[in-house]
Amino acid sequence: MLTQLDQLRTQALAELETLTDETALETFRVAYLGKKGSLTALSSGMKDVPGDQRKEVGAKLNEVRDAITSGLTSRQEALQQAADAKVADGIDITLPGRLGVGTGSLHPLTQIRDLAVRTLRRMGFALADGPEVETEWHCFDALNTPADHPARNESDTFYLADGRLLRTHTSSVQIRTMESIKALPVRIIAPGAAYRRDEIDATHLSVFNQLEGLYVDTQVSLADLKGTLEGFFREIFGPKTVVRFRPHFFPFTEPSFEIDVKLEAKGKEARWIEIAGCGMVDPAVFAAVSKTRGDDLLHPDQVTGFAFGMGLDRLAMILHGISDIRHLIENDTRFLAQF
Ligand code: DAH
Repeated sequence: MLTQLDQLRTQALAELETLTDETALETFRVAYLGKKGSLTALSSGMKDVPGDQRKEVGAKLNEVRDAITSGLTSRQEALQQAADAKVADGIDITLPGRLGVGTGSLHPLTQIRDLAVRTLRRMGFALADGPEVETEWHCFDALNTPADHPARNESDTFYLADGRLLRTHTSSVQIRTMESIKALPVRIIAPGAAYRRDEIDATHLSVFNQLEGLYVDTQVSLADLKGTLEGFFREIFGPKTVVRFRPHFFPFTEPSFEIDVKLEAKGKEARWIEIAGCGMVDPAVFAAVSKTRGDDLLHPDQVTGFAFGMGLDRLAMILHGISDIRHLIENDTRFLAQF
């Protein structure tokens, strides 16, 4: 039996070397190691081996089975490697890919924000920032917006349990900045998120983006306001853009205006489109800020200023002819790939 086992091993290992495909290897496995295979047949002869030889024959049996099994495995691996090498052989890995890797682009909102910020920085405005979770003081009171103003309703504003709120506009950054500056002039812009409890539809989201501006010094005039914002919107919409200042009301500016630009949609008659709010900072705002500062740097008798605010989502929609604001937050690449 020992001799038979040795012969079987020699035969099996020699046969393995001649096998060249998966199917042949499987046939081999069944023929030697399978239930009716030759090795299995031999091992069933164990019962006839005399007791004093069993140990030796059993060990041999295991040794031969291990040898055949590992021989089979290494043959399988060798064949697989050869197959892989053959496939790789036909590939020029220096060729550029067929699909290409798209480079992507900035979100249209990011693009318009960058354009607005770049333009205004060139005009001398510096970036400012403030928290999105705000106090009523910074969002309303200091901005001369009384407690009974509709914007302060629970139904319009997200209030937190501790009495703070999600800022309804970026105008709160005006107050934050004026509270902390050390010297005149104040000349800042603040792009950022604002929150309102609006019903979501094609023109409203509950989170949207604004850009606030503020310029305060000893002699800032309405002419400065007009010149700055006309210049700005001509940079955005083109040098011939007609800009109109229409009297309006905001609690924190007096006088206040809404700004319209006259724009032609392709093939249609030109239309006035409302684009921003602005005005001369109300002395009551300077008074409120002066009180918390405890000094006279921004005393209403000492300074004047202008402020403005606009919706960046709206600006992007007008510039690109986007009909539904929700496209801006859905992250559908079929939409985004156009910009
Ligand atoms: N805060 C106003 C809004 O959210 C926009 C605005 C209007 C900002 C006039 C200003 C301003 O600074 O002077 O609708």
